[in-house]
Amino acid sequence: MEMGSSPAPAGEKAHAVCLPAAAQGHLIPMLDVAKMLHARGFHVTFVNTEYNHARLVRARGAAAVAGVPGFRFATIPDGLPPSDDDVTQDILSLCKSLTETCLGPFRRLLAELNDPATGHPPVTCVVSDIVMDFSMEVARELGLPYVLLWTSSAVSYVGVRHYRLLFERGLAPIKDVKQLTSEYLDIPVEDVPGLRNMRFRDFPSFIRSPAPDDYMMHFALGIAERAIGASAMIVNTFDDLEGEAVAAMEALGLPKVYTIGPLPLLAPSSSINMSLWREQEECLPWLDDKEPDSVVYVNFGSITVMTNEQLVEFAWGLAKSGRHFLWIIRPDLVRGDTAVLPLEFSAETAERGIIASWCPQQKVLSHPAVGAFLTHSGWNSALESMCGGVPIISWPFFADQQTNCRYQCTEWGVGMEIDSDVRRDAVARLITEIMEGENGKVMKKKAHEWREKAAKATKPGGSSHRNFDELIRDVLAPRY
Ligand code: UDX
Repeated sequence: MEMGSSPAPAGEKAHAVCLPAAAQGHLIPMLDVAKMLHARGFHVTFVNTEYNHARLVRARGAAAVAGVPGFRFATIPDGLPPSDDDVTQDILSLCKSLTETCLGPFRRLLAELNDPATGHPPVTCVVSDIVMDFSMEVARELGLPYVLLWTSSAVSYVGVRHYRLLFERGLAPIKDVKQLTSEYLDIPVEDVPGLRNMRFRDFPSFIRSPAPDDYMMHFALGIAERAIGASAMIVNTFDDLEGEAVAAMEALGLPKVYTIGPLPLLAPSSSINMSLWREQEECLPWLDDKEPDSVVYVNFGSITVMTNEQLVEFAWGLAKSGRHFLWIIRPDLVRGDTAVLPLEFSAETAERGIIASWCPQQKVLSHPAVGAFLTHSGWNSALESMCGGVPIISWPFFADQQTNCRYQCTEWGVGMEIDSDVRRDAVARLITEIMEGENGKVMKKKAHEWREKAAKATKPGGSSHRNFDELIRDVLAPRY
């Protein structure tokens, strides 16, 4: 059936089913979209995996995911073995399992939601994370408008689509991991439509696999290519920042792409929160005591893992820098182990630093005491630091982060990169540079400019604000 052809009964509310991918960095932006739809009068069903829903209950209490009038939660299984651990699921296993097992449960969920006995209005549209694009089939069967959310940067989307270009030019798949020397990674890749100044290393990292049939490489390319079948695509970015890449996305055959970011600025505040770990709010009063721009905030998001040796290099780099710091060490940050920091480090920095396991990051990044952000360049973190006007030191881990880092450093003027083989001296040197050096001043100024532009994009009349109105009018609720 043709998409979007279902008639809407007069007088009934539009009902959006929001299907996030089952990972922290995807739940947060989808929740923002869902809140925005709810604020615009939509009935919303937000679909979590059972595992994440149980984690949210453990982290925040059942009330946090009880929903509010007109905003309900539903769950589907993720297909992985049951677990009570509060850890980030293995991304490869998760992507495989979601793709292989969720279609049936999702189809049944929509049938249930459409049962008049539930008292909900029938489902009128599906907003799905691109990672969950099995849902396109269900939307098609029901003739519903189908909008895909790309939670990362537009440049990373274009980077994935150009994996084919890298195949054609013989740069990928590589034959052996030994091929990934710094010389190879630094090979310039010229004439990439929509992207600037790219090297092989700046493409989303799944391209680095030596296996020609690597699951994640083809999964990323597959979801990016299949998106052409959606009714529209929404991206958590804004035109001033990524207009060129957004135009390139459309030139690659996508339906209309609506930039609606930064979502944290556009979404209304509400009591619903998607933090999978309990946020340690005590970080905020600690920051209140500090001078403006005096604290280095360190956080590598929800997926990054490192060795304990790398953790220790970061620790001594922070110690050597002599700065105040707030460092978030997730319980599962160190690969296969518990993080162990040298006793001397803890003694030496006790007066200057605090360590927590999870924090309210958006509030931290908009706190005046924070002067720099040492980050993995996950896209939400990248945008949240722009919203706070905070320059960054980047240590990209995987996926889109390499591309985000490249743009932060060379195009957007807000960042400096740390070598993947992290060393304490480099950490200390870059912290000193960003906090008091000339480069730091320039980056800070640039970050402030982006903060202004982001705010403008999300105010009435701004590009993202207008795009969201148009998305509702033209795609999600044309008959309401
Ligand atoms: C993942 C990918 O790694 C990232 O590259 C992709 O763009 C989205 O999915 P993640 O690694 O968790 O996400 O990074 P990021 O995109 O930065 O998202 C983390 C989110 O968790 C942010 O919204 C951040 O504010 C929040 N967070 C993180 C907290 O609220 N508290 C914390 O202590 C850490």
